[in-house]
Amino acid sequence: MWLSQGEKRGIQTRPEVSEMPLPQKKRWESMAKGLVLGALFTSFLLLLYSYAVPPLHTGLASTRTPEGAAPCSPALSEPEALTPANGSAGGCQPRRDIVFMKTHKTASSTLLNILFRFGQKHGLKFAFPNGRNDFDYPAFFARSLVQDYRPGACFNIICNHMRFHYDEVRGLVPPNATFITVLRDPARLFESSFHYFGSVVPFTWKLSGRDKLAKFLQDPDRYYDPHGYNAHYLHNLLFFDLGYDSDLDPGSPQVQEHILEVERRFHLVLLQEYFDESLVLLKDLLCWELEDVLYFKLNARRASAVPRLSGELYRRATAWNVLDARLYRHFNASFWRKVEAFGRERMAREVAALRRANERMRRICIDGGHAVDAAAIQDSAMQPWQPLGTKSILGYNLKKSIGRRHAQLCRRMLTPEIQYLMDLGVNLWVTKLWKLIRDFLQW
Ligand SMILES: *[C@@H]1O[C@H](CO)[C@@H](O)[C@H](O)[C@H]1NC(C)=O
Ligand SMILES: *[C@@H]1O[C@H](CO)[C@@H](O)[C@H](O)[C@H]1NC(C)=O
Ligand SMILES: *[C@@H]1O[C@H](CO)[C@@H](O)[C@H](O)[C@H]1NC(C)=O
Repeated sequence: MWLSQGEKRGIQTRPEVSEMPLPQKKRWESMAKGLVLGALFTSFLLLLYSYAVPPLHTGLASTRTPEGAAPCSPALSEPEALTPANGSAGGCQPRRDIVFMKTHKTASSTLLNILFRFGQKHGLKFAFPNGRNDFDYPAFFARSLVQDYRPGACFNIICNHMRFHYDEVRGLVPPNATFITVLRDPARLFESSFHYFGSVVPFTWKLSGRDKLAKFLQDPDRYYDPHGYNAHYLHNLLFFDLGYDSDLDPGSPQVQEHILEVERRFHLVLLQEYFDESLVLLKDLLCWELEDVLYFKLNARRASAVPRLSGELYRRATAWNVLDARLYRHFNASFWRKVEAFGRERMAREVAALRRANERMRRICIDGGHAVDAAAIQDSAMQPWQPLGTKSILGYNLKKSIGRRHAQLCRRMLTPEIQYLMDLGVNLWVTKLWKLIRDFLQW
């Protein structure tokens, strides 16, 4: 993923540069330079990658061997290391086997941090990808992509980006694992995805002018190419991430079948718009402590980099992503039924408690009390990953003096995804190499 973003982006001139009245010659020069470097780097990485990926890889996903199909057998996993829950509602057992289907542009990085922390605190076994921070997205998930995978191996938590493949995921976790995912209003998700990934979707390059998004939405069918490279980012991305055909005819009965399948498979579908309420439901479902679901907003864009969709554009974006819109409508309704069952009053109380606790942590952990631009982040371990060509993602500075009681929690809550993955021992050589090259070229 990081890789493909970069490859494509490298072929363009940098947006800031192209705005300036630069001499034409210089512009072409830098464009040519980018092109050559992009091409060289791509072939170099492809070569390396084909050596690094174990041969086991090929074909396992499609032609499943009996061995490959061996489900995770909980008997082989370590005995319960968790002490009985004490304090959470009704003395239930905290759940520690979790599949988080991480969707794109849905506050999922914040949730990832919560899962990393919980897993680390309890010494749980994560199913991590090998070499990069996603499971070969946008290809379908296959269990062979998991670092240190052995047939029959059991994992507690799976949470990195993937294109969902239920049977493959199912086999890696115990039968009573909890499946969760997060959705977001599809029009807003589309806007976010368009700005974050637009430049790596070649068919958007012919869109000229200032407001490419508006232009695209005027007549999506004219620009959209379902077979175009990275096209999935710009059409029903939720449907795609969940493993379905995102170009499905909206009139097809399959649409509703897929939605009901998501409902059967996932125990809780969180909503980005109601993130705190979602976390309260999650905490209740998993029988976790309040501390486990504390969070700071990670991977957020600078406010000035977030345009709001006007009424007309919002309608168009919703209509363009109609499969996602139906998915969202379904789960928005079921979400509020769950809140009803949980109790409105109780929900209000717990949300207030969560916000108070987050606010308290903010005062304890964060220097200046708020997120800052990348340039103002002092510790490179706190530097978030940036989309190519911009530095629009905000990060944090850890306070200099934090009491011993909170030092570790503060650091963990603020550590960005890539650094946290490294802390957890994930092999990220592709991502790291890519970062080196980017730093070198100052992309
Ligand atoms: C659970 O809580 C009770 C009192 O609320 C305490 O006496 C007991 O030691 C606790 N058990 C564990 C395992 O923490
Ligand atoms: C899930 O199953 C495992 C073993 O199969 C068991 O030890 C654990 O207590 C179960 N967890 C829950 C929350 O039911
Ligand atoms: C979700 O459902 C709630 C309650 O029915 C409603 O007020 C809200 O507008 C819905 N949100 C979206 C984005 O559709």
